[in-house]
Amino acid sequence: MKWRTALAATALAGVAALGGFGLYAYRSALPAIAAAERPAADAATIEKGRVLAAAGYCATCHTAKGGQPFAGNYPMVTGFGTIYASNITPDPETGIGTWSPAAFRRAMHDGVARDGSHLFPAFPFDHFTKMTDEDVDAIYAYLMARVAPVKQVTKANELPFPFNLRILQAGWKLLFVDFGRYRPDPARSEQWNRGAYLAEGVAHCGACHTPRNPLGAEKKGERFAGADIDNWTAPALTAANPSAVPWSAASFTRYLETGAGVYHGVAAGPMGPVHVGLRELPKSDIEAIGAYLGAALSVAPADPAKIPAVAASLAAGRPDPAYRRDRGERLYLTACASCHYNSEKVVAGRPELGINASARLPDPTNLIHVILDGIGARDGTSGIVMPAFRHALSNDDIAAVAGYLREKRAGLAPWPDLATTVGRVRAEAAGH
Ligand code: HEC
Ligand code: HEC
Ligand code: HEC
Repeated sequence: MKWRTALAATALAGVAALGGFGLYAYRSALPAIAAAERPAADAATIEKGRVLAAAGYCATCHTAKGGQPFAGNYPMVTGFGTIYASNITPDPETGIGTWSPAAFRRAMHDGVARDGSHLFPAFPFDHFTKMTDEDVDAIYAYLMARVAPVKQVTKANELPFPFNLRILQAGWKLLFVDFGRYRPDPARSEQWNRGAYLAEGVAHCGACHTPRNPLGAEKKGERFAGADIDNWTAPALTAANPSAVPWSAASFTRYLETGAGVYHGVAAGPMGPVHVGLRELPKSDIEAIGAYLGAALSVAPADPAKIPAVAASLAAGRPDPAYRRDRGERLYLTACASCHYNSEKVVAGRPELGINASARLPDPTNLIHVILDGIGARDGTSGIVMPAFRHALSNDDIAAVAGYLREKRAGLAPWPDLATTVGRVRAEAAGH
């Protein structure tokens, strides 16, 4: 008898909890509107929306390779399966042409589509929720006024049960998302708050630079601690960054604005479109992001010329009169030194390779990517800046060059199994 009551009570509690969750999770559909019912927007608002859409890299995720801008179907491969970014052109049937500003705000702020279904967090609404209504409305105005409607049905996601259940996203949100607009910190400057608003909100730096938990949510206590993304490493943006020269507000600003640093690497791979988008922002906004990131560093910027690792990397690169060179060093002199030739000091545009993060990260993947595929238009530079060595160097050759940079120039412990890793990265990025 006792057992029965207990069971009944548990069942009731279960039903109540499910009911509560159902109530919490339920979102109604919002009415469709006709194009003529959209609020009128002035040119300044539309331009502001264009800049914000660039700084949020909307087109990067919402455009398939070779496809029409914003028309969707870009596959996002996650640990759970493949999610296709939606068509967000103003096409009324297959895009968001019937969405009202309220429906668009709800998607950006709460991750809920117009029909009431929960969106997957591959769409970084956990960051966009911080954006003001005004900024979200400006992006809406831009998409509706300036983006050509494209008829293209968004492909069905390839997610196994139960990850395909949109209702479960409500539980994920409950556990992991701090919904709500950015709240300025009154103890900080206006510039810092502007930088935090942009970096945490529209520019969602943490989506790549913050490690995630097994359920794919950013770890709250490890903001910008560095993470793996699309077979690249997004290095830590904290004092844990491995570069020989510590970052500062000024070097962050320069890197974000120009896509390269003097003492740091280049914005290649997934960071390329980020820099390309951010450079649409006014300079004061890029400086604000630099100031926000710089303020979180505990290391005071020193004179780079006096940093021992910089001097050591330069010294190790000087010609050896006795001609004692291993294979990696000889390959480096043949293939790389014509451009990477610093000997006395580091020169802008000629990265000193022993000091930047790619040679100093625990994982060699970023360095291998750059050697295989060079640096060019897809990284936001005009023309080819560095040639690709994919077809000129074998896996063993690239391993030898990378090993030379790691051990002799950076002076760090060797990366294990380098040639195998080169083979893996070569196969992964075979599309280039
Ligand atoms: C990191 C990739 C990524 C970025 C950046 C991104 N999105 Fe998305 N977005 C997605 C994915 C993936 C979906 C589909 C989610 C789903 O199916 O649940 C989506 C869905 C949406 C939707 C819902 C559309 C619908 O029909 O349900 C809107 C609206 C949207 N995004 C707008 C934007 C805007 C505006 C920006 C830029 C400020 C942006 N997105 C940036 C990946 C991205
Ligand atoms: C789509 C993923 C992605 C997003 C979003 C992103 N990053 Fe990155 N970031 C990367 C990757 C990958 C690298 C490594 C690039 C390389 O080695 O060429 C990188 C490199 C960097 C570096 C250079 C680090 C070093 O030591 O070399 C800085 C600084 C940086 N990102 C800042 C930012 C800021 C600030 C934002 C937001 C405004 C941001 N990133 C958004 C992926 C991303
Ligand atoms: C034709 C000139 C040229 C050659 C040859 C060349 N590079 Fe580069 N490399 C560049 C330039 C230019 C940059 C970016 C400079 C800037 O904007 O700061 C660069 C950047 C890099 C970076 C920084 C990437 C990052 O993500 O931080 C690495 C690593 C690199 N090169 C490695 C090599 C290696 C290894 C070789 C030889 C196998 C090589 N390069 C050959 C011109 C060259």
